Amino acid sequence: MESDGVTTLIFVVRREKKVFALSSVCTHKGCKVRAQDDGSYHCKCHGSTFDREGKVTKRPAKRDLPRLGVALDERSHVLVRIERKAGRRHRRHVPG
Ligand code: FES
Repeated sequence: MESDGVTTLIFVVRREKKVFALSSVCTHKGCKVRAQDDGSYHCKCHGSTFDREGKVTKRPAKRDLPRLGVALDERSHVLVRIERKAGRRHRRHVPG
């Protein structure tokens, strides 16, 4: 898993006019998933796969990749809402 409690990697996905963010943390045991050329995601640890929307297409993962809230500011910057377990909220700027 690429999350050390401080750093969390996410995928910001732009499809046509839709923008959304997906966690890169596999819902099985927490390894980092990798984006594939066709837009799907693959976890090397135990072989789970997820479609372009983050839905499980192959187990052992049972849950879809979590979607994170996104918003555009007045300059069209993409803001991603990352909520920590401790309940603190952080926003990260992702250049659009
Ligand atoms: S941690 Fe991803 S399939 Fe097990």
